[in-house]
Amino acid sequence: MRFDVYTIFPGFFESPLREGLLGKAIRSGIVEVGVHDIRDYAPGRHRQVDDAPFGGGPGMVMKPEPIFEALTRTLGYGLDELDKLKREVRVILLTPRGERLDQRKVAILSGHPHLALICGRYEGVDERVREHLCTDALSIGDYVLAGGELAALVLIEAVSRLVPGVVGNEESLSDESFSGGLLEYPQYTRPAEYLGWKVPEVLLSGDHAAVREWRLREAVEWTKKMRPELPGLADGEPDGF
Ligand code: 6GU
Repeated sequence: MRFDVYTIFPGFFESPLREGLLGKAIRSGIVEVGVHDIRDYAPGRHRQVDDAPFGGGPGMVMKPEPIFEALTRTLGYGLDELDKLKREVRVILLTPRGERLDQRKVAILSGHPHLALICGRYEGVDERVREHLCTDALSIGDYVLAGGELAALVLIEAVSRLVPGVVGNEESLSDESFSGGLLEYPQYTRPAEYLGWKVPEVLLSGDHAAVREWRLREAVEWTKKMRPELPGLADGEPDGF
């Protein structure tokens, strides 16, 4: 699985890509991430990557040329081969104007071997980038970030976790929150009693069928309370139990 990230803040990606399971997957070569500074592809002495919006208004808009140049040159396509580029690489603009990312979309993206992620600044990116260079526009939620960098890291981590070999115990993927459209059941570990607070008896019983039943009931009740709109509450047998 390969990600190529396009940003005006490449430093954002340094420590998140070194730490934890993702850092390990990158060091082992299961996941590759290239981080590209859009400014390196901006022409002229001033390396200008943004400009005032046509029509007026506050803020600055990212110019199209440095972004088209950065992708085509780093990925090895001509500006006359954008259709080919888009067939071979999924090109995603991170923007609060995009479709919201969820675990279903994360799973779809994990089936594509090569993703290019363009980090917009929140004031905007010239629309010709989305229209002629991108296959998708994604947001990570209904709040505003200063730029798409943190959203790109969220996407990389969520997608990488589904790449075989990145998460050690593959079983932990099928049980977790959202995989069956339900939030996860609560977990406990030792000690069985802490400050007088006891772990639910059934978890200590060794009765695996009873544990499964308890976990399903807890997942359903918690989901009703916290996220009643999730699909796992619809009729039918929930997955992952
Ligand atoms: Cl992808 N970008 C920005 N700037 N803000 C966001 C976002 C993306 N997703 C949620 N908020």
